[in-house]
Amino acid sequence: MQLRTLGSSGLRVSPLCLGTMTFGTPVDEADAIRLVHGAIDLGINFVDTANVYEGYARYLGSAGGVAEEIVGKALRDRRDKVVLATKVGAPVGPGPQDRGLSAVHILRELDASLRRLQTDVIDLYIIHWPDKYVPPETTLEAIEIAVRQGKIRHFGVSNHSAAQLCELLWIADRQGGPRVVSSQIPFSLLRREFQNDLPFCEKHGIGVTPYQSLQGGLLTGKYRRGQPPPDGSRVAEKPDWVWELDDPLFDRLEGIESLAEQLGVPVAPYCLSWTLSQPAMTSLVVGAKRIEQIQEAVTATEITIPAEHRVLLDALCPPPWQQPDPVRGA
Ligand SMILES: NC(=O)c1ccc[n+]([C@@H]2O[C@H](COP(=O)([O-])OP(=O)(O)OC[C@H]3O[C@@H](n4cnc5c(N)ncnc54)[C@H](OP(=O)(O)O)[C@@H]3O)[C@@H](O)[C@H]2O)c1
Repeated sequence: MQLRTLGSSGLRVSPLCLGTMTFGTPVDEADAIRLVHGAIDLGINFVDTANVYEGYARYLGSAGGVAEEIVGKALRDRRDKVVLATKVGAPVGPGPQDRGLSAVHILRELDASLRRLQTDVIDLYIIHWPDKYVPPETTLEAIEIAVRQGKIRHFGVSNHSAAQLCELLWIADRQGGPRVVSSQIPFSLLRREFQNDLPFCEKHGIGVTPYQSLQGGLLTGKYRRGQPPPDGSRVAEKPDWVWELDDPLFDRLEGIESLAEQLGVPVAPYCLSWTLSQPAMTSLVVGAKRIEQIQEAVTATEITIPAEHRVLLDALCPPPWQQPDPVRGA
């Protein structure tokens, strides 16, 4: 796999990034470590985790830490082989300082993440969610301290709109601090609400690393209309993490599946290839339960979606409304 540059960071990352949200349950420690090693052997050099990840055991405010511990063990003798990303900001306890983007929370959680990940430095530290109670100036000051201390190399954000990215760039310029280099947004053929933000990211050196580009496994062809979900699938094991399988959803899934079939490729890499071809897309954060799923995902880089398919896909899964340009046309 050819590496790509992540925004303005200079970091070179593979077009697929291994997601670790399911490490702990249903992917136990031994399998998770095998997945990390297998992904590296397949050419993936980018691993995404978060302080809160602990697989299906996670609930709002639970302490997390499980996935980072496992990633730390997996990378003990191969830390230099990966660009390591983790996140901060989601609740890890009941108290007011147990969440969000205050300096005290960020700097405390950063130390905990470094310890669990068994590393001195995090390559990409990601603000998990915006925090309406903390001025972004304060958050950026904490990030700058962490950069100066050598504990993080770059910082990115997740679940932020283009307007919020713009504010962070503006403050960074004003304060002379670090610039946001990446944006992790939900984005798949079925979920395109951030589509109109992509040109902004492309223009301003922000690499997009979307998550759930398989929409939690819906875009893999394994769920069939009128049939129970396969044993061991996410819908069978953790239905509240996946959309409800109703007829309008199956109409779209079947339409996408028939286009992938026309091209003679499996539907999962077909969908990943479509996502990868969108503006500013740098690396797709993909989850997997088994190494075969990663093996299939990496074939996305060999697929080209024909122009006529794009038109049909837009009809099946419409992009968000965009302000028309009366001067220059669409
Ligand atoms: N920043 C954020 O707020 C945020 C939020 C969510 C996720 N993330 C990141 O994104 C990563 C991916 O999220 P995700 O796992 O929810 O979404 P995903 O990548 O869309 O779905 C992955 C799941 O789909 C199934 N799957 C994958 N490949 C398959 C294949 N070829 N055939 C059949 N099934 C296949 C597997 O589940 P089963 O086999 O169990 O069905 C796998 O765990 C996370 O690990 C995390 O790092 C970030």
